[in-house]
Amino acid sequence: MQKSRWKIKQLLGDNLPQEATSQPVVVKGWVRTKRGSKNVNFIALNDGSTIYNLQIVADPEQVSEAVLDRIHTGAALSVTGTLVESQGQGQRFELQAETIEVLGEADPETYPLQPKKHSYEFLREKAHLRPRTSTFSAVFRLRHAMTFAIHKYFHDRGFYCLHSPIITGSDAEGAGEMFRVTTLDPKNPPLTEEGEVDFQEDFFGKEANLTVSGQLEAELGALALSDVYTFGPTFRAENSNTSRHLAEFWMIEPEMAFYDLDDNMDLAEDFVKYLVQFALDNYADDLDFLNQRQLDEEKNKKKEERSDMTLLERLQFVVDSEFERITYTEAINILRNSKPNKKKKFQFLIDQWGADLQSEHERFLVEKHFKKPVILYNYPKEIKAFYMRQNEDDKTVAAMDVLFPGIGEIIGGSQREERLSNLQRRMAEMGIPEKEMWWYLETRKFGTVPHSGFGIGFERLMMFVTGMQNIRDVIPFPRTPKNAEF
Ligand code: 4AD
Ligand code: MG
Repeated sequence: MQKSRWKIKQLLGDNLPQEATSQPVVVKGWVRTKRGSKNVNFIALNDGSTIYNLQIVADPEQVSEAVLDRIHTGAALSVTGTLVESQGQGQRFELQAETIEVLGEADPETYPLQPKKHSYEFLREKAHLRPRTSTFSAVFRLRHAMTFAIHKYFHDRGFYCLHSPIITGSDAEGAGEMFRVTTLDPKNPPLTEEGEVDFQEDFFGKEANLTVSGQLEAELGALALSDVYTFGPTFRAENSNTSRHLAEFWMIEPEMAFYDLDDNMDLAEDFVKYLVQFALDNYADDLDFLNQRQLDEEKNKKKEERSDMTLLERLQFVVDSEFERITYTEAINILRNSKPNKKKKFQFLIDQWGADLQSEHERFLVEKHFKKPVILYNYPKEIKAFYMRQNEDDKTVAAMDVLFPGIGEIIGGSQREERLSNLQRRMAEMGIPEKEMWWYLETRKFGTVPHSGFGIGFERLMMFVTGMQNIRDVIPFPRTPKNAEF
C-alpha cells in the first residue's frame, strides 16, 4: 500500500474518489509518448493498471527544461500533480504536473519500443519488454483475469485446488513425449552390468521426468475430496513447431467423483462459458482494445481471409450457443462425405473409421459444418489413453474433446475406467507395467467409483479469449523447440 500514489486505473475509472481531486496525487509509470512545444508538453503515461494512458500536462513554468529533456518513450517517471478535467478529447481527466522525477531514463537511440506498430515476431524477440505495449499488457491482464475466474468458478462450486507434482515417474498420457529430470553426468553416467544407464544411481533412484498432466494425481484427490482441480505447468517434448503448441504450457484439470461422461461434458461447457462471460463482464476495456486492434489488422487481409465475426462477437457467440455434441462415428461420416475430403483438399484424407482427427478436420467441423463449438465423444480406444472408460461396444472409450473455432481442440477429457479388471486388461494390451502404477490401481481396489475429468489448455483458452493467433503471444515467456530465452 502506498498512501499518496494512485494507480492510473483508479484515476480514469468510473468511481473517482473525492480525495483524488481535492489534493495533489502521485502517479508512477512509463512514458508511452511525449509531444509538445516550447509552451507545453503532453506525456502519455502508463503504469500497466489499465489499457488507458494518463495524459500528463507539463508546463515549462512548473517543470524545468532540464527535466523535460530527459523524458523519452520508455522512461519511468514519478509525477505529482493535480487532476483536472481534460479539455481535449479522450479521457475525462488529465494530470497537471507540479513536479516530475525521472526515475529511470530510456535512451531514445536504443530503446526498442519506439511508438510505432511492431510485428508480433519482433516483439517475441523483445519478450522482456513487450508487456509495456498496449496489446501485451491487455493480454497479460486477461491472463490474470482468467486465472482468477478459474479459481473462483471452482471454489464457488465446492471444488478443491490440488497441487499435483511437477516431477513424476509416470507418463500419464502414454505418449512418451517427456523431458527427463536427472542429476547424472551426461558424459559419464553410471552403467549397469548390462551397459544401460543406471538410474538407481540418479537423484530419485529411478527415471524421472517433468509431468505431461496432473490428471492421475487429481484422480487420487477426487476419490477422497469428490471434486478437485489442478492448475499447473505441464511439459511436452513434442517437436511440433505450430502456432498452437508449447513445450511448457499450463493446464487446468478438474476431476470429479460420481460424474459420468454427460456430467463431464455439461461441466466443461458451463465452465468455458463462465470464463468467457467473466472476461466480457470485467475486462471490457482490454477486450475492446483487442477487438479494435484485430479489426485494423483485418483491413490488411484479403476479403476471403477475413473472419466473419469480430472478437467480441465470437466471445458472445460462444456464451450464447449450445455446443453441438456428436460421437466420433458421426463426425467421421460427416468428414468422409465432406467437400474437402472428396476433392482431396484435406492433407490427411478420412477414408475409414478409426482415423485420428487432425486439426484441419476439427476446424472443418467447427468452422464450416456446425459453425459453433463441438464436443466429440466416444472415440476409438486405439487412439486414446489407457485410463479412459471402455464402452460396451468394445471399440470405443468414453472420451470427449471440445473443439473451438480458430483453435481446434481446447479441452480433452473422459470418464475414467473405474473397473480394476478392465483397467488391468487395457494396461496389459498397451504395455504399461502394473508395477509402476500400483498406487493408481489401488484406488480401483479400494472404494472405486465412476469418475470423470478433463484438461483445458490454459494458453489455448487465452488464444480464444484474446483472439491472438499464435500461442507464443499469450504466455509471457514461451518455450518452444530451440527457444528458451528469457
Ligand atoms: O488432450 P490432452 O493431452 O489431455 C490430457 O492431458 C488429459 N490428462 C486431460 C484430463 O483429462 N485431465 O491435453 C489437454 C489439453 C488439450 O486439449 C489442449 O488444450 C492442451 O491441453 N494442450 C496443449 N496446449 C499447448 N501446447 C501443447 N503442446 C498442448 N498439448 C495439449
Ligand atoms: Mg487431447
